[in-house]
Parts: sequence; C-alpha cells; structure tokens
Amino acid sequence: MTEISGKLAVVTGAASGIGRGTALELAKRGARLAISDLDRAGLAETAKRIEAMGGTVTTYLVDVADRDAVYAFAQEIETLGGADIVINNAGVAQIARVDELTYEDFEWVMNIDFWGMVYGTKAFLPQIQKKGEGHIVNVSSIFGIISVPSQAAYNSAKFAIRGFTEALRHEMKGTRIKVSCVHPGGIKTNIVRNARFLQSTQATAREEAASGFDKLARTTPEKAGQVIVNGIAKNKPRILIGTDAKIIDLLQRLLPGSYGKIMFRREIDAFSNTSETGEAKA
Ligand SMILES: NC(=O)c1ccc[n+]([C@@H]2O[C@H](COP(=O)([O-])OP(=O)(O)OC[C@H]3O[C@@H](n4cnc5c(N)ncnc54)[C@H](O)[C@@H]3O)[C@@H](O)[C@H]2O)c1
Repeated sequence: MTEISGKLAVVTGAASGIGRGTALELAKRGARLAISDLDRAGLAETAKRIEAMGGTVTTYLVDVADRDAVYAFAQEIETLGGADIVINNAGVAQIARVDELTYEDFEWVMNIDFWGMVYGTKAFLPQIQKKGEGHIVNVSSIFGIISVPSQAAYNSAKFAIRGFTEALRHEMKGTRIKVSCVHPGGIKTNIVRNARFLQSTQATAREEAASGFDKLARTTPEKAGQVIVNGIAKNKPRILIGTDAKIIDLLQRLLPGSYGKIMFRREIDAFSNTSETGEAKA
C-alpha cells in the first residue's frame, strides 16, 4: 500500500480535467498538494476547492515542456521536504492524419506529452530516491494501447509514455519506489476542445469533434481521480479508467492485428477528424 495521508503530492496539469480530479481526491484523502499548470485561473480554482475542503496546497506556473522550468519546480518542492507522489498528467491532443500532420504540430505534442513526462520523472526521481520511497504516476491513455486514425502524434507520445514508465517500473523492482502507468478511456474533460486541429479545419468541425467526444466520454474527471488514487494506494502498475478502457485493452490483446476493423466506424471517427469513409472532413 502507498500511504496517501500526510504525503506531499505533485500533480501537473491540475488546472482542469483529470489533473484537477486527482488533486481533489488526493486532498480528500489527506495528502498535501503541490499543483502546476500553465493556466493560472484554472490552477487558482483547483487550489480554492482544495482549501475549501481544509486541504493544503501550493500552486506553480510551470510549462512541462520547458526542461529547466521543470527542474526548477522540482528544486522548489525539495525545499518543502521533497515529493512523495508525482503525477505527470499534463497533456494535449492533436488531430490530423499522418499525410497532413506538420512536424511543428507533431513536436508540440511530443514536447508536452512525452518530454514533459520524462522531465517530470527525471527531475523528481532523485528526491524520491533520497527518501527511499515514493510513487511516480505517468498518465498515458487507452490510446497508448491501441492506435486510432488521425491521432498518430498523440498515439506516439502515449505509447512512448507506456514504454518509458514500464521500463522505470522494472528498474525500481525490489525498492520502495512504485511506478504506475495510467490508461484512461474517454473522460469528460477539455482535452478535445483544447486540441490542435489542422489549420484548415472549420470551427464547426472542431465543435462537432468536441461534442462527439463529450457524448463518447462516459467517465467524469472526479471518478477518474478516484480510480487513479485507488490505483496508487494499491500500487497498481497499470491503472485502466472506465469500462471502455478495459474492453479496448482486452480487444487489443485478443485481436492485435485486426481490432481496427471492429472499432473504426462511427464512434471513434466522430472523435477524430475523419468521416466514416475515412476522408478528411476539413
Ligand atoms: N480526457 C480523456 O478522455 C483522456 C483519455 C486518455 C488520456 N488522457 C490524458 O489525461 C491527461 C489530462 O488530460 P485531460 O483530459 O484532463 O485534459 P484537460 O485539457 O482538461 O487538462 C489538461 C491540462 O494540462 C494543462 N497543460 C497543457 N499543456 C501544458 C503544458 N505545456 N504545461 C503545463 N500544463 C499544461 C492544461 O492547461 C490543462 O489544465 C492528458 O495527459 C491526456 O492526454 C485524457
């Protein structure tokens, strides 16, 4: 069991969605919070909610894609006694087919989702190792288990998070440092509204993708936070969130070469930028 009460927990991307839900759940269970994001107002709102429930919280404006900023953040946290739990959650999505995807957009996703997670892990690991115990949690996706059309950049980042996190878990075997990889299914957050689309994508198509996603995503961020914190407490190496994630995980293992034939009809395409026939909408 990883003890939650009294521990210092760092959560990145805590101004919204899953990060906020997880920070609130950790606070409810007695953890002290150090939360970060780029969104000052959202971060202040999360902090307000934590304080309203009697919790302790400090906020930090940190771009996870800025390696020096992440290391400076970790240094500040060390002065507070060092992190016990680190949740690398901040992330963005990008929607474009491979033949249209620009290198700039691809790098934007990799810098935040993948490198942000690497910086967060490597910057905080030494202070956790100094204490001799702790927990590192990296948020991948169910799209780190299967790939979907129009999400190649996001898939690349999320598969890479899984690879990195599982390697770290094997390296920490036999120590009191636990490592978990989180694979959420559809969670009702701002991820698609905040996603980058091709510049040519019409506002209506963006709104359609976002509302299609809202219909598909069945789990609330609060529930996602509960599942993550339960997974941390139980030292689960893989934390799947939602029935959709569990079914897709199983499907991938049963049909590793042909899950796409079953899946990519109406529903996932509504979340992507493609029509049912596979033609780009925009
Ligand atoms: N919502 C889903 O269905 C879903 C599914 C699988 C995985 N995820 C993953 O969950 C994580 C959280 O996403 P969410 O769904 O809560 O989305 P969200 O957009 O509601 O929250 C993401 C947060 O990350 C912050 N952020 C973005 N770029 C940042 C940067 N460079 N530095 C610091 N903060 C930054 C945003 O400001 C925002 O507060 C992401 O890693 C996402 O890929 C989400």
